[in-house]
Amino acid sequence: MTQAAANKVVLGLQWGDEGKGKVIDVLAARARYVVRCQGGANAGHTVVVEGRKTVLHLLPSGALHEGATCIIGNGVVVDPIALQEELAELGPAGVALAKRLLVSDRAHLVLPWHKALDRLSEQRKGDGKVGTTLRGIGPCYGDKIARIGLRCGELKAKDFRERLRRHADQAADVIRSYGAEPGDIDAMLAEVLPACEKLAGLVADTSDILHKAVLEDAAILFEGAQGVMLDIDYGTYPFVTSSNTGIGGVITGSGLPHNRVGEVIGIVKAYTTRVGAGPFPVELLDAKGEELRERGGEFGATTGRPRRCGWLDLVVVGFACRLNGVDTIALTKLDVLSGEAEIPVCVGYELDGERIDTVPADVMALENAKPIYEMLPGWTEDLSACRHFDELPATAQAYVRFIEERVGVRVGYIGTGAGREETIIR
Ligand code: IMP
Repeated sequence: MTQAAANKVVLGLQWGDEGKGKVIDVLAARARYVVRCQGGANAGHTVVVEGRKTVLHLLPSGALHEGATCIIGNGVVVDPIALQEELAELGPAGVALAKRLLVSDRAHLVLPWHKALDRLSEQRKGDGKVGTTLRGIGPCYGDKIARIGLRCGELKAKDFRERLRRHADQAADVIRSYGAEPGDIDAMLAEVLPACEKLAGLVADTSDILHKAVLEDAAILFEGAQGVMLDIDYGTYPFVTSSNTGIGGVITGSGLPHNRVGEVIGIVKAYTTRVGAGPFPVELLDAKGEELRERGGEFGATTGRPRRCGWLDLVVVGFACRLNGVDTIALTKLDVLSGEAEIPVCVGYELDGERIDTVPADVMALENAKPIYEMLPGWTEDLSACRHFDELPATAQAYVRFIEERVGVRVGYIGTGAGREETIIR
């Protein structure tokens, strides 16, 4: 059997929004297949098409590289309406893209009532709400695990309408149990059915297609969505998303085994951000946090919400690297730190008078963990013109080396600005 040496996985190692889109954009040019493996329309990857900024939610961010076949794998939850809207938004590029887009027959459908249930579940939690994107992600994965979901492969069944109606009726009962009204189910069905019909034309056994691609040595790029700290098992549960956002999700969500996914590239922003609720030890609640948000343009691509900001947390990054066997780190937005006289980097936590260097499972423990910072010297230079590592100011180089030493993983890519060319490849 041939080796999948050219295959690459891109994973976010913090709370999402690490800048995966740009790294994927750089890597996708060489890929024959770009694959999403988990999550759904909760993701938001900003891409620029013909000078126009577009945010992709369900489509892989590498989708706009014309040579690549785009796969939405079985681990993704697919909202048929959102997918059609996204393709329409892309205009002629969307029409062309639909011809090289395939959706797994095993992927679950996100339906209008999942979105209603997401909203109700958040309302019921009150102050303890997760701050979800309200895209129906949790309720859809809930149905999958409860074995009552509908999958894309069923779209072509003769009795699909009846199945959909039964599913809607069942969800209506759950909505009523929240003391809410399910609304006009006929209207919801009328809205979703045309999108389902269009989606049916894209459905395929994508796992089989990927196995054949491996045999042909075709380069595959797997795109993680969200980040490791939002992982359903290893994230800050319950303030997480409902899928495995790490390497496990790539394997179960694509149908390829561990020894075929290739190099694991972990994306790390040079500081840390988080959207939604939940513990965030390095969060800056002062003017410095505000400054980082403005300088880094830290507003959610899907919801527009301001992101919470803090310094780099190497406890989180080390934890995420260990869990996912990260081979290479891509460090993004290093330029945003220009102008800081000193840069604090979190290298451990203090919890109940003891020092710890891993992420505790208990969300309250993480809430109470106090970051231990080491101060690194900053730099004032604009980094956007740097194309080689040795062109970076010595203190910026030292910042990168500090990460490598502490985490034990090589930094292979450094982002020095928003543009595709503003990337140092080492
Ligand atoms: P859900 O995935 O919509 O259920 O949201 C669960 C949590 O994950 C919330 O805190 C969201 O803000 C967060 N989240 C989901 N998708 C993303 C993403 O793509 N980037 C950053 N945070 C996300």
